[in-house]
Amino acid sequence: MRTPIVVANWKLNKTVGEAVEFTSALKGMVSGVDGVEVVVTPAFTALNAVASTLSGSNIHLSAQDVFWADNGAFTGEISPAMLKDVGCEYVIIGHSERRQYFGETNESVNKKVKAALSYDLRPIVCVGESLEDREAGRTESVIDNHVRNGIAGISPEAMQSAVIAYEPVWAIGTGVTATPDQAQDAHLVIRSLLSELYSVELAAQVRIQYGGSVKPENTSELMTQPDVDGALVGGASLEVESFAAIARLAG
Ligand code: 13P
Repeated sequence: MRTPIVVANWKLNKTVGEAVEFTSALKGMVSGVDGVEVVVTPAFTALNAVASTLSGSNIHLSAQDVFWADNGAFTGEISPAMLKDVGCEYVIIGHSERRQYFGETNESVNKKVKAALSYDLRPIVCVGESLEDREAGRTESVIDNHVRNGIAGISPEAMQSAVIAYEPVWAIGTGVTATPDQAQDAHLVIRSLLSELYSVELAAQVRIQYGGSVKPENTSELMTQPDVDGALVGGASLEVESFAAIARLAG
């Protein structure tokens, strides 16, 4: 039985004060919500303060990215140990915006996933096709390529703590959500690949969440799909009422 995971990805939004205000309010709104894991992903600057605010709550903390090295001359980067140090449990890796604007590749995703896991940080590995890929009939091959290379060399034990996020690029920030059937089809491709790479048992344990224009109005129908185990939420996670509503609907 997989517990759904609902993650607020704030991207480049929220000052420390705004992030603390949001999480203080969210604590009360989801304190009685069972059967769903709730995660917030502030900018690096707000992680420490949000960690303090979340102390004693049922909300988990994630970062939006990580670098693979432990330390050294890598100006501007953040290590897995630094994220652990401020209380992160999860880290998003390979978001399509990082692939599109910051040169993230399957190879760098894989290095980051390995580094995160070696520090017991749980990676949320993002995969998904562009509109061009979908229209050219390449959806399955792109997903296969992102997953296969992103998690290459990860042991079955480590893989159990990972999450995969299917985020079709054409659905991110566009208001166009994948239909429940489109999401289910893609999630099944991912789960079948995990079966092939690991085992049916392990594939049945790994959570695969959907991201791309998730909002309270479309959460329930997406969550009824058998292989959709939660949501990675951008725009609708910026308002605490809508994010709390999504968390409740996913539970
Ligand atoms: P939106 O929910 O704004 O489409 O963003 C999805 C996303 O990229 C989450 O990581």
